[in-house]
Amino acid sequence: MTFDQAYFDAGVDRRGTQCEKWDDPRMLPEGGVPLWVADMDFPCAPAVAEAVRRRAAHPCYGYSSGAAEEECTAALCAFWRRRHGLALQAEQCVTLPCVITGLKICVRLFTKPGDAVALFTPVYGPFYEAVRLNGRRAAAVPLLPDEAGRYPMNLKGMEDALKAGARLIMLCNPHNPVSRLWTREELTALAELAAAYDVKIVSDEIHADFVYAPGVFTPILSVEKAKGRAVMLCSASKTFNVAGLQQAAAAALDPALTEAVRREMAESGVTAGNIFAMAAATAAYTDGDEWLDGLLRYLDGSRKLLREYTEAHLPRARLSPVEATYLGWLDLRAYGLSCDELRIRCAREGVAFTGGTFFGPEGEGFLRVNFGCPRRQLTAGMDRLRRALEEE
Ligand SMILES: Cc1ncc(COP(=O)(O)O)c(C=O)c1O
Repeated sequence: MTFDQAYFDAGVDRRGTQCEKWDDPRMLPEGGVPLWVADMDFPCAPAVAEAVRRRAAHPCYGYSSGAAEEECTAALCAFWRRRHGLALQAEQCVTLPCVITGLKICVRLFTKPGDAVALFTPVYGPFYEAVRLNGRRAAAVPLLPDEAGRYPMNLKGMEDALKAGARLIMLCNPHNPVSRLWTREELTALAELAAAYDVKIVSDEIHADFVYAPGVFTPILSVEKAKGRAVMLCSASKTFNVAGLQQAAAAALDPALTEAVRREMAESGVTAGNIFAMAAATAAYTDGDEWLDGLLRYLDGSRKLLREYTEAHLPRARLSPVEATYLGWLDLRAYGLSCDELRIRCAREGVAFTGGTFFGPEGEGFLRVNFGCPRRQLTAGMDRLRRALEEE
């Protein structure tokens, strides 16, 4: 099978599969176009579907011996070595049910109730929840756009937060929603701050594989100063579009950190290792490269389409440079509409985006556009947005 433009243009009909993106009438009216929640409207790699079918074919779904998890972790390490040049070892990894669980585990492990956790905002909404649900405080470090709508890392703001006592840095690398691919220089400076204030870094690297040339992804664990104080969280879920299976991993180079994550999981009652998820992740990490390379070529074209569309048809909008992720951060403040008003207008026109305030108050007047879909769907959704903005 070739994973070319025609393959991704064909997409997959997800309606009627109890799918959050398409089948929730509160989010999307009948006949609507979803460009919201971050999963993609493409079938997963054939090798992944085949692995799940193969495992399901044996009609006994009992406890696994541990071999499946070992195989999955070995495949994950090989993938990260191959694609990101990171020499991970199996004993440095811990299996998690999902990435957000990993954030919560790290909050509990590295901070005490009442402590502040520093995070660059706007950021993926559940980051705040991971902090607040554990009785900690979110110390928001605002990211501010430059002339081009690009968001440099706010190192000064981070230092202020650490000076004021924040005990953990919660990083999103690359950053959802502002589509930033943090550079090695930025990450090194961040790690130096973490060292100076003796705090840990938990780095959510779920979007690591969605990076566009000439950018190169920098894993936090490859940053010298971060090596002894960082926990990386990763998953096949975004990369291979298998989020519903729920499978992720934490990794740290310091054995004491890996062990501490394992212990905190046990104490918190968190277990992982769903047999179908492990079969899928193993296949994805082992046999998914060709599909992933095709996907990245397609998304690169869609990213350009989104920019051209915005410039041609939404002259008052500003799209931040999309260096990473399949999510565009669209500044619509010049239209003078709140996220609530945007949502109501978009619903009337039959299109759904993620409102900017989901990522924090700085997101007022912004929408996040998910372009992980066939291009005709992206254009149809953007046409509807254009009509929504033109409404009297
Ligand atoms: C930055 C980020 N982290 C985590 C998640 C969710 O990951 P999981 O389902 O593994 O908790 C998402 C999903 O959109 C995300 O964008």
